[in-house]
Amino acid sequence: MSAQDILILGVESSCDETAAAVVKNGREVLSNVISSQIALHTIYGGVVPELASRRHIEAVSPVIEAALREAGVTLEQIDAVAVTAGPGLVGALLVGVAAAKAIAWAADKPLVGVNHIKGHVCANYISFPDLEPPYLCMTVSGGHTHLSIVRDYTDFQIIGRTRDDAAGEAFDKVARAIGLGYPGGPKVDKLAKEGNPEAIVFPHPHFEDNPYDFSFSGLKSAVLNYLNHAEMTGETVSRADVAASFQKTVVEMLVDRAMLAAREFDMKKVALAGGVASNSALRAGFAAACEKHGYRFYCPQPVFCTDNAAMIASAGYYDFVNGARAGWDLNADPGLALA
Ligand code: KG4
Ligand code: ZN
Repeated sequence: MSAQDILILGVESSCDETAAAVVKNGREVLSNVISSQIALHTIYGGVVPELASRRHIEAVSPVIEAALREAGVTLEQIDAVAVTAGPGLVGALLVGVAAAKAIAWAADKPLVGVNHIKGHVCANYISFPDLEPPYLCMTVSGGHTHLSIVRDYTDFQIIGRTRDDAAGEAFDKVARAIGLGYPGGPKVDKLAKEGNPEAIVFPHPHFEDNPYDFSFSGLKSAVLNYLNHAEMTGETVSRADVAASFQKTVVEMLVDRAMLAAREFDMKKVALAGGVASNSALRAGFAAACEKHGYRFYCPQPVFCTDNAAMIASAGYYDFVNGARAGWDLNADPGLALA
């Protein structure tokens, strides 16, 4: 490690993963520890916020200690502590923010509050050490769907967003409707491989006033209507066909808008980010469209797509070198805006 190297300890607790990581110079992951709560929430068919907060409290200190240990560094060697300040579940966020504040204060280290969505985007710097802004990024997670121009490491311009449900939410709701349960996205992804994506035609809404905005609630309703109609008429439903056709529609919606935006904004690089970016059909759809149009395509490895703290440490690094410092009054902000 050279004297110029900057080590960031990242902490993430915005939803159902308690995570901590140590990242060098924003790109090199020295450790990435994730304590998942999937088993806990599966019983209830979705994330129960109060239970999530309690589990974060139990996990946060051991997870941070493990991240330092696995990285082979002491707290003394860390240059700054970066923590997700929002958006997310307020009770869950508070646990990470309180832990990060306590550590930074005790060790006399600077504190940086990170936007979770920026973190998702920055996961691309980990998987692609040569990626530099500007580029177009499609961020698709359980709570957010944004199409943005990443003008610089800390400068994002949102050009499109969902007007209702997030992409991941649509995956989770459709999964529930066809009896797959929580967590829905990966289960739909798996079942869709056995289905025919052309079997059912679902709607594909467009908005006159902003061609880059999305809507997923209509698609979700169309899937529910299809299932109800089949039940009433006694038709047998192929769950695999429903999963494949739904997934294909989502992929088309996202790819079409991203390609349109890349052309209009003259972007040569297109990235994916967020939990839904680990979807195999979405990755393949973006890769094929980018190849066809001559754009370079970027997408983090699946472990850096879903919630993790390495991405928070990466975003925290760029905020830190840009001069960002949080005060000891840093608070969780469940509705923290990206730009
Ligand atoms: O980014 P993330 O881990 O958490 C949030 O910030 O929301 O995203 C979680 C979302 C969930 O809705 C989950 O169902 C979805 O990402 N997801 C997937 C896949 N893996 C996770 N959706 C589709 N296909 C997947 N393979
Ligand atoms: Zn996330």
